[in-house]
Amino acid sequence: MQRAAEVLMTSKRVVFFTGAGISADSGIPTFRDKLTGLWEKHDPQRLETAEAFRENPALVWGWYLWRRRQVSQAKPNSAHLSITQLAKAGWDVSVVTQNIDDLHERADSKGVVHLHGSLMSAKCFACHRPVELTSEQLQIAEEGRLVEPPRCARCKGRLRPGVVWFKENLPEEAWRSAVRLVRNCELLISVGTSGVVTPAADIPDMALAVGATVIHVNLEDVGLDRANEMMLLGNAGEVLQALLRSVGVE
Ligand code: APR
Repeated sequence: MQRAAEVLMTSKRVVFFTGAGISADSGIPTFRDKLTGLWEKHDPQRLETAEAFRENPALVWGWYLWRRRQVSQAKPNSAHLSITQLAKAGWDVSVVTQNIDDLHERADSKGVVHLHGSLMSAKCFACHRPVELTSEQLQIAEEGRLVEPPRCARCKGRLRPGVVWFKENLPEEAWRSAVRLVRNCELLISVGTSGVVTPAADIPDMALAVGATVIHVNLEDVGLDRANEMMLLGNAGEVLQALLRSVGVE
Protein backbone atom coordinates (compact mmCIF):
# COMPACT_ATOMS: atom_id res chain seq x y z
CA MET A 1 0.00 0.00 0.00
CA GLN A 2 2.83 2.36 0.85
CA ARG A 3 4.52 1.81 -2.53
CA ALA A 4 1.19 2.25 -4.28
CA ALA A 5 0.57 5.49 -2.40
CA GLU A 6 4.02 6.79 -3.37
CA VAL A 7 3.34 6.11 -7.05
CA LEU A 8 -0.09 7.73 -6.86
CA MET A 9 1.42 10.78 -5.14
CA THR A 10 3.87 11.28 -7.99
CA SER A 11 1.48 10.47 -10.86
CA LYS A 12 -0.78 13.01 -12.44
CA ARG A 13 -2.53 11.09 -15.24
CA VAL A 14 -4.29 8.06 -13.81
CA VAL A 15 -6.45 5.59 -15.75
CA PHE A 16 -8.84 3.30 -13.88
CA PHE A 17 -9.47 0.12 -15.84
CA THR A 18 -12.49 -1.58 -14.31
CA GLY A 19 -14.31 -4.90 -14.52
CA ALA A 20 -17.28 -6.63 -12.94
CA GLY A 21 -15.62 -6.79 -9.50
CA ILE A 22 -16.00 -3.04 -9.00
CA SER A 23 -19.78 -3.36 -9.20
CA ALA A 24 -19.96 -6.51 -7.04
CA ASP A 25 -20.59 -4.55 -3.84
CA SER A 26 -23.49 -2.80 -5.58
CA GLY A 27 -25.12 -6.22 -5.91
CA ILE A 28 -24.37 -6.82 -9.60
CA PRO A 29 -23.07 -10.39 -9.97
CA THR A 30 -19.70 -10.88 -11.68
CA PHE A 31 -19.26 -13.33 -14.54
CA ARG A 32 -17.82 -15.87 -12.10
CA ASP A 33 -20.92 -15.91 -9.90
CA LYS A 34 -23.40 -18.66 -10.61
CA LEU A 35 -26.80 -17.48 -11.75
CA THR A 36 -29.60 -17.97 -9.27
CA GLY A 37 -33.38 -18.06 -9.39
CA LEU A 38 -35.13 -18.48 -12.70
CA TRP A 39 -31.98 -17.80 -14.70
CA GLU A 40 -30.16 -20.60 -12.87
CA LYS A 41 -30.15 -23.03 -15.78
CA HIS A 42 -28.70 -20.46 -18.18
CA ASP A 43 -25.07 -19.74 -18.89
CA PRO A 44 -24.29 -16.05 -19.61
CA GLN A 45 -21.47 -17.09 -21.95
CA ARG A 46 -24.12 -18.78 -24.04
CA LEU A 47 -26.87 -16.13 -23.67
CA GLU A 48 -24.59 -13.25 -24.58
CA THR A 49 -23.99 -14.27 -28.17
CA ALA A 50 -25.48 -13.47 -31.57
CA GLU A 51 -26.27 -17.18 -32.01
CA ALA A 52 -28.41 -17.20 -28.86
CA PHE A 53 -30.23 -14.06 -30.04
CA ARG A 54 -30.92 -15.62 -33.46
CA GLU A 55 -32.17 -18.80 -31.85
CA ASN A 56 -34.30 -17.22 -29.12
CA PRO A 57 -34.47 -13.40 -29.30
CA ALA A 58 -37.16 -13.17 -26.60
CA LEU A 59 -34.99 -15.07 -24.14
CA VAL A 60 -31.96 -12.86 -24.75
CA TRP A 61 -33.95 -9.59 -24.75
CA GLY A 62 -35.69 -10.69 -21.51
CA TRP A 63 -32.30 -11.45 -19.97
CA TYR A 64 -30.98 -7.97 -20.76
CA LEU A 65 -34.15 -6.24 -19.53
CA TRP A 66 -33.72 -8.13 -16.30
CA ARG A 67 -30.04 -7.14 -16.06
CA ARG A 68 -31.04 -3.55 -16.74
CA ARG A 69 -33.57 -3.67 -13.94
CA GLN A 70 -30.92 -5.07 -11.60
CA VAL A 71 -28.60 -2.16 -12.48
CA SER A 72 -31.31 0.50 -12.21
CA GLN A 73 -32.01 -0.68 -8.66
CA ALA A 74 -28.31 -0.69 -7.73
CA LYS A 75 -26.27 2.23 -6.44
CA PRO A 76 -22.60 3.09 -7.01
CA ASN A 77 -20.45 1.82 -4.16
CA SER A 78 -17.41 3.29 -2.43
CA ALA A 79 -15.08 1.97 -5.17
CA HIS A 80 -16.92 3.94 -7.88
CA LEU A 81 -17.05 6.95 -5.56
CA SER A 82 -13.31 6.76 -4.74
CA ILE A 83 -12.52 7.33 -8.41
CA THR A 84 -14.60 10.50 -8.49
CA GLN A 85 -13.07 11.66 -5.20
CA LEU A 86 -9.58 11.36 -6.65
CA ALA A 87 -10.60 13.37 -9.72
CA LYS A 88 -12.13 16.05 -7.51
CA ALA A 89 -8.91 16.14 -5.46
CA GLY A 90 -7.01 17.24 -8.58
CA TRP A 91 -5.71 14.09 -10.31
CA ASP A 92 -6.28 13.79 -14.06
CA VAL A 93 -8.48 10.69 -13.89
CA SER A 94 -9.96 8.66 -16.76
CA VAL A 95 -12.12 5.57 -16.59
CA VAL A 96 -12.01 2.72 -19.10
CA THR A 97 -14.52 0.05 -18.18
CA GLN A 98 -15.52 -3.37 -19.42
CA ASN A 99 -18.78 -3.02 -17.51
CA ILE A 100 -22.05 -2.39 -19.27
CA ASP A 101 -23.69 -0.82 -16.20
CA ASP A 102 -23.81 2.96 -15.67
CA LEU A 103 -22.55 3.02 -12.08
CA HIS A 104 -19.42 5.03 -12.93
CA GLU A 105 -21.59 7.70 -14.55
CA ARG A 106 -23.95 7.69 -11.59
CA ALA A 107 -20.93 8.15 -9.31
CA ASP A 108 -20.24 11.27 -11.39
CA SER A 109 -17.23 10.05 -13.39
CA LYS A 110 -16.91 11.99 -16.66
CA GLY A 111 -16.16 10.67 -20.16
CA VAL A 112 -16.28 6.99 -19.18
CA VAL A 113 -15.05 4.76 -22.03
CA HIS A 114 -17.24 1.65 -22.34
CA LEU A 115 -15.23 -1.05 -24.13
CA HIS A 116 -18.11 -3.55 -24.06
CA GLY A 117 -20.96 -1.16 -24.81
CA SER A 118 -23.79 -0.23 -22.49
CA LEU A 119 -26.93 -1.83 -21.13
CA MET A 120 -28.61 1.53 -21.56
CA SER A 121 -28.32 1.50 -25.35
CA ALA A 122 -29.81 -0.56 -28.15
CA LYS A 123 -29.27 -1.03 -31.87
CA CYS A 124 -30.88 -2.87 -34.74
CA PHE A 125 -29.65 -6.46 -35.13
CA ALA A 126 -30.19 -6.21 -38.92
CA CYS A 127 -29.11 -2.69 -39.98
CA HIS A 128 -26.95 -1.88 -36.87
CA ARG A 129 -28.52 1.56 -36.46
CA PRO A 130 -28.33 2.84 -32.86
CA VAL A 131 -31.84 3.27 -31.41
CA GLU A 132 -33.19 5.15 -28.38
CA LEU A 133 -35.59 2.91 -26.50
CA THR A 134 -38.89 4.33 -25.30
CA SER A 135 -39.93 3.80 -21.69
CA GLU A 136 -42.60 1.43 -22.96
CA GLN A 137 -39.98 -0.70 -24.72
CA LEU A 138 -37.99 -0.73 -21.53
CA GLN A 139 -40.82 -2.46 -19.74
CA ILE A 140 -39.50 -3.98 -16.60
CA ALA A 141 -39.04 -7.67 -17.15
CA GLU A 142 -39.82 -10.09 -14.39
CA GLU A 143 -36.98 -12.41 -13.58
CA GLY A 144 -36.80 -15.18 -16.14
CA ARG A 145 -39.43 -13.65 -18.37
CA LEU A 146 -39.21 -13.91 -22.15
CA VAL A 147 -39.84 -10.60 -23.94
CA GLU A 148 -40.09 -10.25 -27.71
CA PRO A 149 -37.62 -7.49 -28.73
CA PRO A 150 -39.09 -4.34 -30.32
CA ARG A 151 -38.60 -3.78 -34.08
CA CYS A 152 -36.43 -1.19 -35.84
CA ALA A 153 -38.57 1.67 -37.20
CA ARG A 154 -36.48 1.76 -40.38
CA CYS A 155 -35.91 -1.82 -41.48
CA LYS A 156 -38.18 -3.77 -39.10
CA GLY A 157 -35.26 -5.82 -37.88
CA ARG A 158 -35.20 -6.85 -34.22
CA LEU A 159 -33.57 -4.53 -31.71
CA ARG A 160 -30.71 -5.93 -29.68
CA PRO A 161 -28.84 -4.49 -26.70
CA GLY A 162 -25.96 -2.12 -27.50
CA VAL A 163 -23.41 -4.37 -25.83
CA VAL A 164 -20.48 -6.34 -27.20
CA TRP A 165 -21.27 -10.03 -27.34
CA PHE A 166 -18.74 -12.87 -27.26
CA LYS A 167 -16.81 -13.09 -30.54
CA GLU A 168 -17.80 -9.53 -31.54
CA ASN A 169 -15.35 -6.68 -32.12
CA LEU A 170 -15.07 -3.83 -29.65
CA PRO A 171 -16.55 -0.48 -30.74
CA GLU A 172 -13.71 1.18 -32.67
CA GLU A 173 -14.06 4.63 -31.18
CA ALA A 174 -14.10 3.34 -27.60
CA TRP A 175 -11.03 1.20 -28.26
CA ARG A 176 -9.16 4.12 -29.85
CA SER A 177 -9.99 6.37 -26.88
CA ALA A 178 -8.88 3.69 -24.43
CA VAL A 179 -5.56 3.16 -26.22
CA ARG A 180 -4.92 6.91 -26.32
CA LEU A 181 -5.62 7.30 -22.61
CA VAL A 182 -3.61 4.25 -21.57
CA ARG A 183 -0.58 5.15 -23.72
CA ASN A 184 -0.57 8.56 -22.13
CA CYS A 185 -1.01 7.59 -18.48
CA GLU A 186 1.54 7.41 -15.71
CA LEU A 187 -0.47 5.04 -13.54
CA LEU A 188 -3.09 2.43 -14.44
CA ILE A 189 -5.24 1.08 -11.61
CA SER A 190 -6.98 -2.12 -12.72
CA VAL A 191 -9.94 -2.86 -10.45
CA GLY A 192 -12.00 -6.06 -10.20
CA THR A 193 -11.22 -7.72 -13.48
CA SER A 194 -10.12 -11.30 -14.06
CA GLY A 195 -8.18 -10.08 -17.10
CA VAL A 196 -9.07 -13.02 -19.28
CA VAL A 197 -11.19 -11.49 -22.03
CA THR A 198 -9.05 -9.95 -24.77
CA PRO A 199 -8.43 -7.42 -26.25
CA ALA A 200 -9.53 -5.48 -23.14
CA ALA A 201 -7.33 -7.71 -21.00
CA ASP A 202 -4.25 -6.45 -22.89
CA ILE A 203 -4.69 -2.97 -21.43
CA PRO A 204 -2.42 -3.41 -18.38
CA ASP A 205 0.36 -4.67 -20.69
CA MET A 206 -0.12 -1.64 -22.90
CA ALA A 207 0.35 0.64 -19.86
CA LEU A 208 3.49 -1.25 -18.74
CA ALA A 209 4.90 -0.99 -22.28
CA VAL A 210 4.84 2.81 -22.12
CA GLY A 211 6.54 2.83 -18.72
CA ALA A 212 3.45 3.40 -16.57
CA THR A 213 2.96 1.64 -13.24
CA VAL A 214 0.09 -0.84 -12.93
CA ILE A 215 -1.70 -1.45 -9.64
CA HIS A 216 -4.17 -4.35 -9.54
CA VAL A 217 -6.98 -4.23 -6.99
CA ASN A 218 -8.73 -7.57 -6.65
CA LEU A 219 -9.99 -10.14 -4.15
CA GLU A 220 -7.68 -12.63 -5.86
CA ASP A 221 -4.03 -12.29 -6.80
CA VAL A 222 -4.13 -11.39 -10.51
CA GLY A 223 -0.88 -9.40 -10.59
CA LEU A 224 1.93 -10.92 -12.58
CA ASP A 225 4.74 -9.47 -10.50
CA ARG A 226 6.50 -7.75 -13.34
CA ALA A 227 8.58 -4.64 -12.77
CA ASN A 228 6.28 -1.64 -12.24
CA GLU A 229 3.36 -3.92 -11.38
CA MET A 230 1.81 -4.33 -7.93
CA MET A 231 -1.11 -6.08 -6.36
CA LEU A 232 -3.42 -4.73 -3.66
CA LEU A 233 -5.46 -7.66 -2.42
CA GLY A 234 -8.94 -7.02 -1.07
CA ASN A 235 -12.35 -5.60 -1.64
CA ALA A 236 -12.28 -2.80 -4.25
CA GLY A 237 -14.09 -0.22 -2.13
CA GLU A 238 -12.01 -0.85 0.98
CA VAL A 239 -8.68 -0.91 -0.87
CA LEU A 240 -9.39 2.25 -2.86
CA GLN A 241 -10.57 4.13 0.21
CA ALA A 242 -7.38 3.08 2.03
CA LEU A 243 -5.28 4.19 -0.95
CA LEU A 244 -7.02 7.57 -1.01
CA ARG A 245 -6.50 8.03 2.72
CA SER A 246 -2.82 7.25 2.33
CA VAL A 247 -2.43 10.13 -0.15
CA GLY A 248 -4.42 12.46 2.10
CA VAL A 249 -7.75 12.35 0.21
CA GLU A 250 -10.64 11.78 2.62
N1 APR B 1 -13.44 -6.30 -5.03
C1 APR B 1 -12.38 -6.53 -5.85
N2 APR B 1 -12.39 -7.51 -6.79
C2 APR B 1 -13.48 -8.27 -6.88
C3 APR B 1 -14.62 -8.10 -6.05
C4 APR B 1 -14.56 -7.06 -5.08
N3 APR B 1 -15.58 -6.79 -4.26
N4 APR B 1 -15.55 -9.03 -6.39
C5 APR B 1 -15.02 -9.76 -7.40
N5 APR B 1 -13.78 -9.31 -7.70
C6 APR B 1 -12.88 -9.77 -8.77
C7 APR B 1 -12.82 -11.27 -8.96
O1 APR B 1 -11.81 -11.84 -8.15
C8 APR B 1 -12.50 -11.38 -10.45
O2 APR B 1 -11.09 -11.34 -10.68
O3 APR B 1 -13.42 -9.25 -9.97
C9 APR B 1 -13.09 -10.11 -11.05
C10 APR B 1 -14.35 -10.33 -11.86
O4 APR B 1 -14.01 -11.10 -13.00
P1 APR B 1 -15.04 -11.38 -14.16
O5 APR B 1 -16.34 -11.81 -13.58
O6 APR B 1 -14.37 -12.28 -15.13
O7 APR B 1 -15.32 -9.94 -14.78
P2 APR B 1 -14.52 -9.12 -15.88
O8 APR B 1 -13.06 -9.25 -15.70
O9 APR B 1 -15.10 -7.75 -15.87
O10 APR B 1 -14.93 -9.87 -17.20
C11 APR B 1 -14.48 -9.35 -18.41
O11 APR B 1 -15.81 -10.89 -19.63
O12 APR B 1 -17.78 -12.03 -19.96
C12 APR B 1 -17.03 -10.98 -20.34
O13 APR B 1 -17.81 -9.07 -21.45
C13 APR B 1 -17.75 -9.65 -20.17
O14 APR B 1 -16.88 -7.49 -19.57
C14 APR B 1 -16.85 -8.88 -19.25
C15 APR B 1 -15.51 -9.53 -19.49
